[in-house]
Amino acid sequence: MSLLLKIILPICCLLTFPSLFAQSQTNPTGYLLDCGAGESSSAGVTVSGLRYVTDEGFTSAGNITKLKQNDLVPILSTLRYFPDTSARKFCYSIPVIKGGKYLVKTTYYYGGFDGGDKPPVFDQIVEGTKWGVVDTSEDYANGLSSFYEIVVLAKANRLSVCVARNGETKSSPFMSALEVENLDDSLYNATDFANNALSTVARCCFDDKFNRIWQPFKDLNPVVISHHKVNPLEFWNVPPEKAFKNAITTSRGKRLQIQWPQISVSTGDYYIALYFQDNRTPSPYSWRVFDVLINGNKFYANLNVTTKGVTVYSTQWPLSGQTEIVLIPSNDMPVGPVINAAEVLQILPLGGKTLSKDVVAMLDLGRQFNNPPSDWSGDPCLPKENSWTGVTSNLTALNHIWLGGNKLSGTIPEMWSLKDLRSLHLENNQFEGPVPKSLSQLPHLSEIFLNNNKLDGQNSVTAQ
Ligand SMILES: *[C@@H]1O[C@H](CO)[C@@H](O)[C@H](O)[C@H]1NC(C)=O
Ligand SMILES: *[C@@H]1O[C@H](CO)[C@@H](O)[C@H](O)[C@H]1NC(C)=O
Ligand SMILES: *[C@@H]1O[C@H](CO)[C@@H](O)[C@H](O)[C@H]1NC(C)=O
Ligand SMILES: *[C@@H]1O[C@H](CO)[C@@H](O)[C@H](O)[C@H]1NC(C)=O
Repeated sequence: MSLLLKIILPICCLLTFPSLFAQSQTNPTGYLLDCGAGESSSAGVTVSGLRYVTDEGFTSAGNITKLKQNDLVPILSTLRYFPDTSARKFCYSIPVIKGGKYLVKTTYYYGGFDGGDKPPVFDQIVEGTKWGVVDTSEDYANGLSSFYEIVVLAKANRLSVCVARNGETKSSPFMSALEVENLDDSLYNATDFANNALSTVARCCFDDKFNRIWQPFKDLNPVVISHHKVNPLEFWNVPPEKAFKNAITTSRGKRLQIQWPQISVSTGDYYIALYFQDNRTPSPYSWRVFDVLINGNKFYANLNVTTKGVTVYSTQWPLSGQTEIVLIPSNDMPVGPVINAAEVLQILPLGGKTLSKDVVAMLDLGRQFNNPPSDWSGDPCLPKENSWTGVTSNLTALNHIWLGGNKLSGTIPEMWSLKDLRSLHLENNQFEGPVPKSLSQLPHLSEIFLNNNKLDGQNSVTAQ
């Protein structure tokens, strides 16, 4: 699945992003993290008017490094990488407002940080769901950084974004920048975000107050310039004003054919939004009517596009491979059809979530340990193949904690809320303090091993 968003970021002339981004954007609400910037750069860096701060404090895993290339955009010049091969995932945990809708954007620029010449391929995970595979090889070979973007609902007051090794991973997963930004409620609001996320495939054109990426698109069709400003706030999804500045058109009586997105997409359901405006000066005659077809299927019939502009969207539309958008003018139209901007986002079903009370109890447990395993962050159970080291569950409720012989130290907290815990192995570690009272009360806990620690009254709880 290619969720790759390329951006024109030639290595030769970097210091600012090209004109694709406005120079005077205001920071969106949320966090823009410059991964691997280190503690000393607490003041942050500014890229195209956006302020990025260090990622210190948002993850406890990984090592940081600075790339040798010295002509890079500041946020690409450092990265955090994750050399620990025993950890099952590496997570960032970002404070959010529970129930809020967030745009998560990850940026990767390899830069040969591990001494190799090809970027590692690995997984990325959002809120316990596998989001996709990060494969930046093609972009990197072209001197470009890679972006991925997803819209997701925050189900708790922290949002987790993780990377993890998969079967293809040859060196360490890494990340160059991470952005988590709050979106207005109205954005993509017809999507069932309780069960799905929207992963961006392509979006064109221009820049955005929410910092979504709108890439330029150019084909052989003529471009026209708008003579009437629209108010983006009147549109669903609040496209940037610039999206209406230019439009692609064709001559009178002809159908307008566009091959877009320019990548082949994997078979699945997509959210598609198309934006149109008659570019002429407003008058009683400034409108045009046409049919909109996607891959030969009618997307919208007899669309009447005026100078006010209009959005047409589908919350669920099947796509596979190449996509062709065709606009067919109705009979007798004196002008050809137009299109200004478009978005295609993949609908990613969420893989569920560990019971909140179990997550809270596990985070608490991790906090009491002086040296918890480095993957004890993000969702404890999900995705299944990326659960926390030593933790097994029935996917939503936690059943087993097996951490014998791990040189762990600290105290063992109460675990009242782990109602489904069946076995607890903490033997052969260096735990101190009292044996939690809750252990004798949990209804299903039938296997407790705490021997060879420095607990008070070590022998008062024995394996049952
Ligand atoms: C990463 O950091 C850890 C802890 O600071 C250190 O022990 C380890 O040697 C570092 N690994 C690499 C590959 O630099
Ligand atoms: C989505 O937002 C638009 C614009 O604010 C609003 O008109 C519409 O009623 C909302 N739809 C849903 C399903 O909430
Ligand atoms: C398209 O909309 C304009 C403006 O509302 C209207 O004057 C025109 O009659 C409409 N055209 C058709 C074919 O419905
Ligand atoms: C896991 O256990 C919980 C609590 O007993 C239960 O509610 C849930 O249905 C179980 N899930 C699965 C997938 O078996």
